[in-house]
Amino acid sequence: MKAAGIRRKYIEFFKSKGHAEIKSASLIPDNDPTCLFTTAGMHPLVPYLQGAKHPAGTRLTDFQKCIRTGDIDEVGDAVHLTFFEMLGNWSLGDYFKEEAIRFSFEFLTGAENLNIPLNMLAVTVFAGDEDCPFDEEAFKLWNSLGIPAERIAKLPKKDNWWGPAGQTGPCGPDTEMFYWTGDLPAPEKFEPSDKRWVEIWNDVFMQYNKNAEGKYEPLSQRNVDTGMGLERVTAILQGKKSCYETEIFAPLFAKLDEIRGAEWVDGADRTSSERIIADHLRAATFIMADGITPGKVDQPYVLRRLIRRAIREGRKLGISTEFTAKISQAVIDEFGDVYPELKNNAKVILEEFEREEKQFAVTLEKGTHEFLKLIDRVPAHITKKVISGKNAFNLYETYGFPIELTCEMAAEKGFEVDRAGYDAAFAKHQEMSRAGAEQKFKGGLADHSEATARLHTATHLLQAALRKVLGTHVEQRGSNITAERLRFDFSHPDKMTPEQIAEVQTLVNDAIKRDLPISCDEMTVEEAKNAGAMGLFESKYGEKVKVYTMGDVSKEICGGPHAQHTGELGGFKILKEESSSRGVRRIKAVIEAK
Ligand code: ALA
Repeated sequence: MKAAGIRRKYIEFFKSKGHAEIKSASLIPDNDPTCLFTTAGMHPLVPYLQGAKHPAGTRLTDFQKCIRTGDIDEVGDAVHLTFFEMLGNWSLGDYFKEEAIRFSFEFLTGAENLNIPLNMLAVTVFAGDEDCPFDEEAFKLWNSLGIPAERIAKLPKKDNWWGPAGQTGPCGPDTEMFYWTGDLPAPEKFEPSDKRWVEIWNDVFMQYNKNAEGKYEPLSQRNVDTGMGLERVTAILQGKKSCYETEIFAPLFAKLDEIRGAEWVDGADRTSSERIIADHLRAATFIMADGITPGKVDQPYVLRRLIRRAIREGRKLGISTEFTAKISQAVIDEFGDVYPELKNNAKVILEEFEREEKQFAVTLEKGTHEFLKLIDRVPAHITKKVISGKNAFNLYETYGFPIELTCEMAAEKGFEVDRAGYDAAFAKHQEMSRAGAEQKFKGGLADHSEATARLHTATHLLQAALRKVLGTHVEQRGSNITAERLRFDFSHPDKMTPEQIAEVQTLVNDAIKRDLPISCDEMTVEEAKNAGAMGLFESKYGEKVKVYTMGDVSKEICGGPHAQHTGELGGFKILKEESSSRGVRRIKAVIEAK
């Protein structure tokens, strides 16, 4: 069975069991400051696992894009992936263990489902400890469905407990399902340490919330969270030793072969460099489709690291032309139907790859030269060869070498890198740039005069008007207000036409003329989101935020201050529309005195 078929069957199966299909959320969590990327299907559902009402009901299913950055350095072997798809089904305070296990069993073994013979399966259940007792119920259920006791292993928290996805949040004991990948017949007794038993699915019984002190508190509602890695299950059911041997990666390798002028061999064993390129550029393409461009911190940094590592592996394979956009195009072609955001953002994605590759080509050459000078300076007889933290930071700062790249290159030459020294140099640099940013901020929002309150209000009306005229891709990217003018940065790829500018200005002035009432309500981020408020959802769960509503025109999370009525504002005038940075436009505007 192909991955696309498994994905479809899974969703259809759970829909037939009363689950609503929901859309894969963005790879960038909008509600978890403790994680850079969505790491599991349950991740975007955390508020609902904690008790908020989900609009689609209490039984959900989806396939979710995930990124696990902990594995990046492992990629290249047969099993690790940075990006993967997770199939999942959830009960939000609806069914619990019995139905969850019955559903899993039926999907795995049912003739019209995955049709896995019973004797190829084994399971693990939670053995129990001071936080939570032995999961006898799960044990008995599996057993009653036909899994013999010697194929059910009882394991401790280290193995049979899942979550939280970040540092805090919902978690609980789990039961994991394993498939025998060795020679037949499968051994009667299940030894979880035998690597030929491979985990394919995980049912988590989420009854606890791990709090910031590391304590497990019972959740008000008992949930089920399950996860099945699509690439892995596809490989296993096809009898392949690696996900990279499946049709999922075939078009990417075919493109890579074409670029290299190598002949395509179906099912060829791929080298570590080839796998890294396919994995990293697939992950990078998906990250960019969710609005991230390469940069120096957080997600942009991970993205840059992925692209640069792939480019370097390309050099190892002897590729001397630009190739990342070509592979990315293959990713878009293959996954664009299932994930339309790839197609919708294709132009920007391909441009970004080209830009990053050009930029890195220059720095890679200069940086490698610099790097080799450092290496040459160390006499051959020194046994403990180290690149200092300062030099490693210089390679990062001046030549854009991610520290991981420097470490890798150093290891190839038998050198170590003073990581602690690098971290210290990096932290010092960050402190300096943060101080700079705070200075910049001061000029803007520190002033709470009536003039700034009015301009602040105008910013909300402006954002609403921009979304109306240009589209809902418009989002605030920055704002700076002085007593004289507002400056508003927003996401939009093109220069605005004079007609668009005039239309936006008219819409704002209309809202001012209508003298709309402005109200401010305090609520939690989840409530604000449910109420359809715009804004930066960066606050922690449960934290109260202020939501400003301006008639039927705008609803936004914001700290204020604001006017009481839109009529307090004078005529709104756009002075300038210009580029701020790539994909971001900037408007400067004023309000005329009343
Ligand atoms: N959230 C669980 C996992 O990722 C299902 O394995």
